[in-house]
Amino acid sequence: MLGVLGHGFLGTRLAADLPGAVLLHVDITDRAAVLAALREHGCTAVVNAAGKTGFPNVDWCEEHAFETFRSNVTGALVVAEAAAELGAYLLHLGSGCIFYGPSPSPGGWREDDFANPVSLYSRSKYAADLMLSRLPNVGIARLRMPIDGSPAPRNLITKLVGYAQVIDVENSVTVVDDMVVAVRELVGHRAQGVFHVTNPGVLRHRELLEGYRELVDPLHRCELVDEAELEKRGLVRAARSNCILQSSRLAALGIVLRPVHEALRDVLTRYAAARKGIAQVAEL
Ligand SMILES: NC(=O)c1ccc[n+]([C@@H]2O[C@H](COP(=O)([O-])OP(=O)(O)OC[C@H]3O[C@@H](n4cnc5c(N)ncnc54)[C@H](OP(=O)(O)O)[C@@H]3O)[C@@H](O)[C@H]2O)c1
Repeated sequence: MLGVLGHGFLGTRLAADLPGAVLLHVDITDRAAVLAALREHGCTAVVNAAGKTGFPNVDWCEEHAFETFRSNVTGALVVAEAAAELGAYLLHLGSGCIFYGPSPSPGGWREDDFANPVSLYSRSKYAADLMLSRLPNVGIARLRMPIDGSPAPRNLITKLVGYAQVIDVENSVTVVDDMVVAVRELVGHRAQGVFHVTNPGVLRHRELLEGYRELVDPLHRCELVDEAELEKRGLVRAARSNCILQSSRLAALGIVLRPVHEALRDVLTRYAAARKGIAQVAEL
């Protein structure tokens, strides 16, 4: 059995879509409770999708340092220790937001590059990575800006179209359907170490919004601003990570995600259908 921790955006999806998975409702900082849940379900592998991501966004973490590191650092280590005690494999969901700006070598940040996290959230994610990446039978799947075909507050599409001002930066991103496949494969391989689970290619926010106007809502409008402007207007508290990742370790395992622009069209088409469905239900 595969235990999934974290009943949020990604944990719920992984538990629903991965064969033989069960969503475990347990506080990951409580070692006895984690052990009991893993034992009860006979888990031979665990995905840790639990953590503080901040509400409505990561700015929350700046004001809630202890809650953030308790879940994102202590909790991650507690889960690793519990999994090790039972001989279970652990795949921890990390984040590419630990990297800020251009990579030291061409082609994007590599899995073993030292990160330069700025915000408290990204520092907490990197702190866990530094320990977990050295443990046997543990893998880390670093994701970036998840994109999905269903509207949701943590979906990059929903986030961007909800803003009146958007910065036009380029990033690596993770399409959630492709992430589910990659997680299944990583767990299947009991893959150890860090993996950048991002779709090949680079996506500009402007391109996502153009696709949104073409395939979802031609009436959508927003203002494109530069990053400094966003901070000057007081619209963000913590500096945001924008970065491009290389995924060579994933490719070396033969796990290939769809090119980002191909996947984006598919996702936006499904997003449009989902939005129509929601509107129809609302009319009833
Ligand atoms: N979404 C993204 O943009 C993104 C990008 C890269 C990586 N990730 C990583 O992927 C993981 C899942 O993210 P997500 O998007 O699914 O976030 P999410 O929707 O906020 O889900 C995280 C879940 O973990 C729960 N949680 C927090 N502390 C916990 C604890 N001590 N014990 C048990 N559950 C706890 C949260 O519950 P409460 O809400 O009650 O605290 C929430 O239900 C996180 O580790 C995140 O850092 C996310």
